[in-house]
Amino acid sequence: MWEVEMNADTIRSVKKGFNFVLKCIIPYNVVVLKYQLMAKKQQAIRQERIDNVKAQPQTKPRTDFSYQEAIRFLSTTLNREPEQVQEGCIAETSLEYCTEFLVQRAHGKPMVGLHVGNFVGLSLAYLTDAILRIHPASVMISIDPNIPHRGIENPLSIVTALLTHFGLQEHNLILTGYTLEKSVSNDGYIFNDYDPVSRFQEEQSCEQQLERLACLMPGGFDFCMIDGNHEENYLRREVELMAGLLKADGLMFLDDVTPQWEGVANVFHHFDHEHYEKLGTDWRVGVIRKKG
Ligand SMILES: C[S@@+](CC[C@H](N)C(=O)[O-])C[C@H]1O[C@@H](n2cnc3c(N)ncnc32)[C@H](O)[C@@H]1O
Repeated sequence: MWEVEMNADTIRSVKKGFNFVLKCIIPYNVVVLKYQLMAKKQQAIRQERIDNVKAQPQTKPRTDFSYQEAIRFLSTTLNREPEQVQEGCIAETSLEYCTEFLVQRAHGKPMVGLHVGNFVGLSLAYLTDAILRIHPASVMISIDPNIPHRGIENPLSIVTALLTHFGLQEHNLILTGYTLEKSVSNDGYIFNDYDPVSRFQEEQSCEQQLERLACLMPGGFDFCMIDGNHEENYLRREVELMAGLLKADGLMFLDDVTPQWEGVANVFHHFDHEHYEKLGTDWRVGVIRKKG
């Protein structure tokens, strides 16, 4: 009698175990199979979409740069009047003036330039094009914190759009940061209700880019253009650090050596430095040579 009960219990246990297998193991395998099939299908769709993109031309070839076309492009992209776009940028005549110095120094070798202060990329694109005309393997490295400037948020996206428009992007290395320590943006001016002083804590970017570059590429640059922070003491320290970055006979261009920017003008006009020699100025850009 007792043995029969035991057998019934055993049978019940076996049935229970079998049900457990059916409920848990077999459905699990089915679910796994289902997900594997779905993943395969999604993978095929994803690959097809990637292949479609790859089939299109990837890199826009270099096209002739023109200052006016760049202004037109920026004006359309930013939905601003051309005059407004140009206001925050180096004038074409001054960029031509700088280019003349670069052409004089061309020795049939690629040039390496350092550009400080990109904003929406006008002077960066201009100078990149200029050095590529001198030698097609030339490279431009630039530094800008990509914080709102003159009411434009994320100016780096506009810079890359402009460089891409002219097929210049692959000749550019862009460092997102401050040359020295973090400082108040827009030189403290309020644009479109954006107050750089009250927003100071929110603005974030890498600092001390010049010192890091000086470790990586000491004496590696043929020239630099400085058009970032316009505060006198800040600029003086940038100029000091540039001595370690420029090659002997390398050039330094300072934008805004005008009465409107007294601090910048002071740095240039009262320039007396053991490492540098002043070469000249048009009405706006000052040119300095690093002594050999
Ligand atoms: C006058 S705009 C540059 C205009 C540009 N050079 C052009 O002509 O097309 C100044 C730019 O310098 C950037 N800037 C300000 N302080 C800087 C710093 N410490 N290091 C690098 N860039 C800085 C600003 O964010 C802004 O984008």
